Amino acid sequence: MRKSERLNKIPPYLFVKIEEKKAELLNKGVDIIDFGIGDPDLPTPEHIFKKMKEVLELPESGQYPTSKGEFAFRKAVSKWYRKRFKVELNPRDEICCLIGSKEGLAHLPLCFIDKGDVSLIPDPSYPVYKICTTLAGGEPYLMPLTAENNFLPDLDSVPAKVLKKARLLYINYPNNPTGAVCGRDFFEQCVKFAKANNLLLVSDLAYSEMGYLGDPPMSMLEIPGAKDVTIEFHSLSKTYNMTGWRIGMAVGNKEAVQALATIKSNMDSGQFKAIQYAAIEALSGPQDCVEEHNKVFAERAKVLVEGLNSLGWKMAPLKATFYGWVPVPKGETSASFTEKLLDKCGILVVPGNGYGPSGEGYVRFAITIPKERIAQAIERMKKNGIKF
Ligand SMILES: Cc1ncc(COP(=O)(O)O)c(C=O)c1O
Repeated sequence: MRKSERLNKIPPYLFVKIEEKKAELLNKGVDIIDFGIGDPDLPTPEHIFKKMKEVLELPESGQYPTSKGEFAFRKAVSKWYRKRFKVELNPRDEICCLIGSKEGLAHLPLCFIDKGDVSLIPDPSYPVYKICTTLAGGEPYLMPLTAENNFLPDLDSVPAKVLKKARLLYINYPNNPTGAVCGRDFFEQCVKFAKANNLLLVSDLAYSEMGYLGDPPMSMLEIPGAKDVTIEFHSLSKTYNMTGWRIGMAVGNKEAVQALATIKSNMDSGQFKAIQYAAIEALSGPQDCVEEHNKVFAERAKVLVEGLNSLGWKMAPLKATFYGWVPVPKGETSASFTEKLLDKCGILVVPGNGYGPSGEGYVRFAITIPKERIAQAIERMKKNGIKF
């Protein structure tokens, strides 16, 4: 079967390979401590399930939704943004419902990238930015995130000839995979840079509700004038432990949001209405669950960081997300250390270079397992002589 050039250009999705490897080991009876995919293990809060049960049997739930989302859902998003960030969004044309933010991020380059156009993409980063730029015929330009620059891209180092062809600038704080956060000054710089270079600023805010140390993360749209150049992606996945429900939103610049809605209307017919109604409950109902989840992640982060530091690492406390971005010991690569942890200790982590070449030298620990299991992983590392 002849496959398209487009398909041949893309590698298998990172987690597909990892899930296969895990299944293989589980089959062999290995007790795996799984720090792999960032999928919260805590349950979706009860009031959201309760709402879902109520709306499931509404006759309209069985009918086609609109691809950009029910007006009531968009209104709930608008209210949530006002309450959380003091950002005003018009539910008519500045908000679009997504089948998870991955869906919107994946479709976006089809709206703005033609053959040869460039997307400016942090390296390492969530793989969808790069792969879907390539699928749309564009070229990713990678901006290294390093410990020396606090895992912030150096926008001023992008060469002028790249900038000439650049259309999209992807920014993601709190960051996957590095767990880094940024200050208001960096967001201001991004908006200024996007304006000066005629770029659409793509802010991925999937983890904004997962800040547990320091100031609460902010929306790019809080920066005055940001809406002129910004589309922001958000999601209920991590905030409310709803990864499997597949619901998120794109908000911000009207032209960009409507461009995405146009692509979507030709590709999907929106998210199941019952899920949208349950999402309204999530956004508008009690929010104490968010703080409770963060308390759990903060405790786990402490166990991981203190544990690794007892083995010679010098990790700073994690501030946000559920990711520990951990440098590999001397003499190891991302791949060799991942393999060693798995083979010697039954510990599954993600090799940092899976997120881009600058991720080489790191592995990512997702703390989506109970703290007792994290402590057990540290014990296993100690027993097997693994140290930094
Ligand atoms: C940075 C980032 N953006 C977006 C997503 C997509 O989340 P979802 O499609 O569940 O909304 C993820 C998921 O892991 C992510 O890490």
